[in-house]
Amino acid sequence: MRRLTALKAALAVGLLGLTSAAWAQDPVKIGLILPMTGQQASTGKQIKAGVDLYIKEHGDTVAGRKIEVILKDDAAVPDNTKRLAQELIVNDKVSVIAGFGVTPAALAAAPLATEGKVIELVMAAGTSIITERSPYIARTSFTLAQSSVPLADWAAKNGIKKVVTMVSDYAPGHDAEKSFSDRFKEAGGEVIEAIRFPLANPDFAPFLQRAADAKPDAIMVFVPSGQGGTFMKQFTERGLDKAGIKVIGPGDVTDDDLLPAMGDAVLGAVTAHFYSADHPSAKNQAYVEAFKKANNFRPNFMSVGGYDGMHLIYEALKKTGGKADGDTLIAAMKGMSWESPRGPISIDPETRDIIQNVYMRKVEKKAGELYNVEFATFEGIKDPVKAAKK
Ligand code: PHB
Repeated sequence: MRRLTALKAALAVGLLGLTSAAWAQDPVKIGLILPMTGQQASTGKQIKAGVDLYIKEHGDTVAGRKIEVILKDDAAVPDNTKRLAQELIVNDKVSVIAGFGVTPAALAAAPLATEGKVIELVMAAGTSIITERSPYIARTSFTLAQSSVPLADWAAKNGIKKVVTMVSDYAPGHDAEKSFSDRFKEAGGEVIEAIRFPLANPDFAPFLQRAADAKPDAIMVFVPSGQGGTFMKQFTERGLDKAGIKVIGPGDVTDDDLLPAMGDAVLGAVTAHFYSADHPSAKNQAYVEAFKKANNFRPNFMSVGGYDGMHLIYEALKKTGGKADGDTLIAAMKGMSWESPRGPISIDPETRDIIQNVYMRKVEKKAGELYNVEFATFEGIKDPVKAAKK
């Protein structure tokens, strides 16, 4: 009897050994949750293209483990995000859930990342609080405050005195509105009206009329990536350009995905942002060229969030020797720094949020095409909202 138990124990140990050896060669699965359909589909398309390009350039094996990306479409509906994240964690046993085209989607997944101890890698959404919702969240996109604060400084120093803010009525819009307005007022500027419009299918025309009636020097606008084209079209139709009202904002409104088709009314719009397809570095020129070769469109800032997100996963796995449990992987991600197509970036070891340059840009025509042309740099910007809490 005793011998039998010993045998069983030996067998069990052997089996365990086998299982862990097999595990080491298992693929590292990444659940990529993106809006591939619906209003935010341009974000899904861009991030997917950035992720694919990274894998094409760097191979699909890291530290002896194969990388397997499982793509799911949440159409930017947070209930879908939650269900898909749950399935990916429980059934597919992913090590990372990544993507998240909008803030509500990123927030919906956060408790599941905590419970499952898996990394939630935010490649798009930009509200400051997101990274505080789970110790397993890291971000390779941006925060709205990161660009809105430098924008306010620039506006106050460049003859803009009266501003109407116009933002989508949800968390990132509120962040953009508050961080811009607080700083602009501190610098002596005046916010004469604060307008919010719905996120879903907005008709900007009546809001633009209200803004025009207030006679500001500039409109500070935040719309999520994908809506800038409609905003600029209605801005022009209402004749705000002819009335001499400037467009300024975080760079989402002059998103490189839609910019080429926006028309000349957008010329001269000044925005603050972390990425322009026109960023004049060798790394970015190579990125844009390879991206355009693989796709029939220009990369925008969302694509870079996806590309850099994959870099963060690959480099963290190299550091851990292929160990992909949440605690080991997030520790490896903290403090990592590298050169992105957008310029130098790092992951803040304290907040797991991104630290990056913010560039001032003006829409200009280059060889007949519209681009955000950078003319000034604010270096190494941490999320100002979190910095202010300290
Ligand atoms: C967000 O929902 O956090 C979001 C989406 C698109 C943007 C910026 C922020 O361009």
